[in-house]
Amino acid sequence: MVAIFCFSRVFILAPTFKMMHPAFLVLGLFAVSASALNSHVGPRAEPVKITLASRKVSSTQLLQRRALSPSNVPLADYFNGTDLQWFGNLTIGTPPQTFTVVFDTGSSTLEVPGTQCGAACKNQKTFDSSKSSTFIDGGRTSTITFGTGVGVDPVIGNNWQLSLRSATDTVSVGGLPVKSVGFFLITNQTPTFAPDPFDGIQGMSARAQGFFAGLISQGLPSLFGMFLTPNSVGNAELTLGGFDSTKFTGPLTFASLPSTASSTWELSSSGISVNGKTTTTLHKTRTFIFDSGTSNIVLSQTDAEAIYAIISPNIKPNSAEPGTYGIPCSQVSTLPAKIDIAFTSQQGTPFNLTIPSSELSVGPFRSNPSLCQTLINADEFTLVGGSLLKHYYSVWDIGGERMGFAPNGF
Ligand SMILES: *[C@@H]1O[C@H](CO)[C@@H](O)[C@H](O)[C@H]1NC(C)=O
Ligand SMILES: *[C@@H]1O[C@H](CO)[C@@H](O)[C@H](O)[C@H]1NC(C)=O
Ligand SMILES: *[C@@H]1O[C@H](CO)[C@@H](O)[C@H](O)[C@H]1NC(C)=O
Repeated sequence: MVAIFCFSRVFILAPTFKMMHPAFLVLGLFAVSASALNSHVGPRAEPVKITLASRKVSSTQLLQRRALSPSNVPLADYFNGTDLQWFGNLTIGTPPQTFTVVFDTGSSTLEVPGTQCGAACKNQKTFDSSKSSTFIDGGRTSTITFGTGVGVDPVIGNNWQLSLRSATDTVSVGGLPVKSVGFFLITNQTPTFAPDPFDGIQGMSARAQGFFAGLISQGLPSLFGMFLTPNSVGNAELTLGGFDSTKFTGPLTFASLPSTASSTWELSSSGISVNGKTTTTLHKTRTFIFDSGTSNIVLSQTDAEAIYAIISPNIKPNSAEPGTYGIPCSQVSTLPAKIDIAFTSQQGTPFNLTIPSSELSVGPFRSNPSLCQTLINADEFTLVGGSLLKHYYSVWDIGGERMGFAPNGF
């Protein structure tokens, strides 16, 4: 899911991992400004190799600040006609209360339902702050609005919104605990969240925040790996502090994040091809956001329709759900629809990330079951998610300011 804010970008850089208003921490899709960010973070560093014991330290210091080893977190797949989201366990509080959260590279902060949420969160587990001896109420209230939702439908107005109250407590993921992590209790949510089989959202943006920033300051390498498998394969996994080389074959290909250091995971692409063909509309530079919390592809209406025009003239906008497109289900399974998105590696070599034809249909529309929804939605941003990521092992390297991909080993 992509969190959308139009607030002042300067605050995104506030140099603290402590509790803040989410507008200051969450990925601001429209607030990603190179100039403002660069003036704060200075020139972009070259990719760095993360060495765990690079300087001599006394044995006492070693005990105090020992490097943490990477940890694997199993993920479950929310499958509802198509693969929608991958989620895993996280605990909050003392003693720990367990929640399932989507590890969402499209947002930055942790949100879980609080007991205050009541009926609006009745399908989710709620955090009871009175049962945690380490809980601190932050007292600040705010809202967070997402630009993509949990399923495959486009976002209309504020239909994906959480009301929040700030808090601090111990958070543990993959058996790695961090004290005094800022997060948000959900005090109300739009009904669109109700069917979710998970409780909350853990943002995993390109600027480490929350529990992950805490782990990095304890010596965990500042990268993570994602193995987001289709439902039929299972065994999805998040690796914190490294990547799991048993989950892919062949070398990883790395591409640098744009020099406009921001909290958004994004890469510049030189063009899109469909079934080996391109057009003047498609063959141009655009920046793709990589969002593990979104299943569909989101493109401008012009780009979406340029791709659909190559696939089939029978793919048409579905006026019942603006921003979506569909085709009679009887036609969709036989259509070639291979989408190659061209990127450039750190070595300067072109490579494609490819979405196979099998992703074209995301299943029948509820409003018209004979019409199948196709995977690209039209909106005001450019984003790829689960339908691409599940065909690759992906490495999200915060310290190296780069992303890596290797074909999945299944
Ligand atoms: C699938 O999605 C629909 C719409 O969000 C929801 O009503 C339904 O409960 C979901 N089914 C499952 C099994 O999650
Ligand atoms: C989360 O933990 C529960 C036990 O508390 C376990 O049953 C479940 O399988 C775990 N979920 C995942 C995705 O690991
Ligand atoms: C990427 O895909 C396009 C279209 O299929 C193809 O022409 C091009 O050779 C591919 N590039 C690489 C590096 O494989």
